[in-house]
Amino acid sequence: MSAPSSAAQLDSSATVTIDLGVRSYDIAIGTGLIGRAATFAGLPRASQALIVSNATVAPLYAERVRAALAAHYPQVHLLALPDGEAFKTWETLQLIFDALLTHGCDRKTVLFALGGGVVGDMTGFAAASFMRGVPFVQIPTTLLAQVDSSVGGKTGINHPLGKNMVGAFYQPHRVVCDLETLQTLPPRELSAGLAEIIKYGPIADTDFLAWIEAQLSNLLAREPQALAHAVRRSCEIKAWVVAQDEREAGLRAILNFGHTFGHAIEAGMGYGAWLHGEAVGCGMVMAARLSAALGMVEAAFADRLVRLIAAAGLPVRGPLLDAGDNAGRYLELMRLDKKAQAGAITFVLIDGPGHAVMREAPEALVRSVIDACCAA
Ligand code: NAD
Ligand code: GLY
Repeated sequence: MSAPSSAAQLDSSATVTIDLGVRSYDIAIGTGLIGRAATFAGLPRASQALIVSNATVAPLYAERVRAALAAHYPQVHLLALPDGEAFKTWETLQLIFDALLTHGCDRKTVLFALGGGVVGDMTGFAAASFMRGVPFVQIPTTLLAQVDSSVGGKTGINHPLGKNMVGAFYQPHRVVCDLETLQTLPPRELSAGLAEIIKYGPIADTDFLAWIEAQLSNLLAREPQALAHAVRRSCEIKAWVVAQDEREAGLRAILNFGHTFGHAIEAGMGYGAWLHGEAVGCGMVMAARLSAALGMVEAAFADRLVRLIAAAGLPVRGPLLDAGDNAGRYLELMRLDKKAQAGAITFVLIDGPGHAVMREAPEALVRSVIDACCAA
């Protein structure tokens, strides 16, 4: 499998299109985009717009966005949610509806999600359900959100029993990735974003995997050209997958490589204890080891992936979720995964460099991989 690639560009601006017929939209990638009125030209017209952000991101970037949007919308409101994965809940979602109704917003009101994946997923879900659907725009400000969560229309919230269990497929009208915002991202969050970038290599593009290995120090140093290429190529691969399988009937599940184990870590540790990207990075270690244990890929390829994940600053040893039957606790949590059917866990596994498939695996083997990968 190889997703088509656009011609290399010398500057750091690019546009990637998500081709979904009438629901098609562009991802604009560049620097300084959020402060320009032109960035938001051509969106649905309305008398009101609501920027949904959080307590960390709003003080950094909301005024710039508000000023740019003022050229297009007579009234621009701002809502700053509490910050963190632990707030990706019904209660926080309700704050968005409260703001929309308090301001007298109508079914034309446009929502702008300014923040990371938590803000993006919740704002998208609010847009999907407020008055049965209003337009929204993603303005992702984390690396993870720019390369993954803002693209493809998965929206939702967590349930205490399972990650992202309540939500909707609902596509944004546009995605605006301003690379400049990544300069204020804490280092741990940068590494979390690298996990989702690394993911695209083993599942779809081994040339990209080699590029990430070669450019890792530039990515960690936030070198603009390196970030621009990483965001563009990740979005191209995601666009290619989503255009073929918008609602995850099959192929799109490969984007969940590492997520079955990762979601168990997030839920088992308590949301927010491990960052989503950290859990996915460690989950990819387990999924790669499981692929090798099943004889689907060389152990050397799994080792290569583990080295890259570690070099990106991500944990490669899984946490103990239970002092007694740790593997049993992982299995219990993984049975709640959305890909599980009738209690059988389906894993995204690598069956050759650059190619992923969905497969079940014998429980004893899964247990032995978890035991081998978890902290003693
Ligand atoms: P996040 O939204 O919690 O953001 C991480 C932290 O960085 C937060 O504290 C945030 O306030 C802060 N932050 C954001 N931008 C900043 C900036 N520019 N400067 C300084 N601080 C900034 O986490 P995330 O990693 O962006 O997203 C994780 C979420 O995304 C999870 O809930 C996950 O389930 C979801 N997700 C969804 C999809 C999807 O397809 N919808 C895909 C992957 C992940
Ligand atoms: N992040 C997985 C997906 O969008 O399908």
